[in-house]
Amino acid sequence: MLDIKIYAERRARLLAKMQHGICILPNAPEQQRNADADYPYRFDSSFYYLSGFNEPESVLVLIADSDGNTRSILFCREKDMEREIWHGYRSGPDAAQDKFGFDAAYSIAKLDEKLIELMGNQPVLFYPMGADTAWDIRMLKLRGAVQEKSRSGVKAPDELRDVRTLLNEMRLFKDLHELEVMRRAAFISTAAHKRAMQFTRAGQFEYQVEAELLHEFCRNGARDPAYTSIVAGGANACVLHYIDNNAKLHDGDLLLIDAGCELDGYASDITRTFPVNGQFSAVQKDVYEIVLASQAAAIAAALPGNSWDAPHNAALKILAQGFIDLKLCHGTVDGVLESEAYKKFYMHRTGHWLGMDVHDVGEYKIADQWRSLQPGMVLTVEPGCYIRPSDDVPMALWNIGIRIEDDVLITETGHQVLTDAAPKTVAAIEALMCEGKI
Ligand code: GLY
Ligand code: MN
Ligand code: MN
Repeated sequence: MLDIKIYAERRARLLAKMQHGICILPNAPEQQRNADADYPYRFDSSFYYLSGFNEPESVLVLIADSDGNTRSILFCREKDMEREIWHGYRSGPDAAQDKFGFDAAYSIAKLDEKLIELMGNQPVLFYPMGADTAWDIRMLKLRGAVQEKSRSGVKAPDELRDVRTLLNEMRLFKDLHELEVMRRAAFISTAAHKRAMQFTRAGQFEYQVEAELLHEFCRNGARDPAYTSIVAGGANACVLHYIDNNAKLHDGDLLLIDAGCELDGYASDITRTFPVNGQFSAVQKDVYEIVLASQAAAIAAALPGNSWDAPHNAALKILAQGFIDLKLCHGTVDGVLESEAYKKFYMHRTGHWLGMDVHDVGEYKIADQWRSLQPGMVLTVEPGCYIRPSDDVPMALWNIGIRIEDDVLITETGHQVLTDAAPKTVAAIEALMCEGKI
């Protein structure tokens, strides 16, 4: 159920941070896929975060006046019976104002005319600068139109500021409503990974496993994945952004699945790696245990007050020792870390912020220092190991690609793993794959 208080409270917080000025936040445009066919509409994350309104061709305007008064104004499509017969329901400004709790709502056709009026005498214009060139030009033109009214005593905003500096910091700290949705998204995705483990067998194609993931997302109300699922058998797991998902799965290979659903605008992001035939080989298990131990160390370091970099450094130490044990790297752990020799087998970082966007907004450094983890932040922890064929690598390890990824909420006292219902120990994976074929 729509709880308009959540969105009103977020707008009030942003307005307080703006102090005095006008914020203009356009929703995302519709995107054409090919002739007469659009991609499914996905709203702009920040627009939805502040409005709860999900119709295209809409713009949110927030005004903080010098006397402390504030206004939230929506511009949206008019009702249009002909178009609604073809394309579906439109709220129209009157119903939208009522239902979503705005102070005013107008037809999107009136946007320029009203903005010239609303921008007058506001000292600062906040908007997502540089996000869209057409909007940049439109904003400057509108500001110019306000300036032309200077003879009648109206002043145009002197200062342009990127509203995302304020907004992204708000979105980094998840409120209770967001956490409820993110927990549910995470849970649906764990069910999808379990389903994939139970379904997989040699001879299938990667896209058949992908279909099981999508089925589990959709039947739980999460219509879209948060990003294109990676279903990578054997050597394909060593391609970090593999999305072809069209190869046959072979007995004896591992299958890496990086997949998460989006639910009501919130992402989940899980990776599991498991044997196609349900049983890890000895060498696969050796590598897997190293990645699993590195992930456990990284999760243990995801604590309030620790640096953003602490989980990455904890994972690297374990991986470096593991790579030496496997004869992938040589020398000491400190030497491998110092020379970055590990990067041949682990070339990405250990996580990212997670929220409405899978790689969510929020700074990682403040004044050139990694920021500290704080309650309410959600991050992924996703170490891996990708071994491509090479003369200086033991042949038994060739084409093993493993990543293990969970979503972690920082709490007052530690952390909570939102995705821990997806099995990840060797024993738990083998047990599930043996017990429950679907
Ligand atoms: N699935 C995207 C990522 O793990 O960053
Ligand atoms: Mn991720
Ligand atoms: Mn992922």
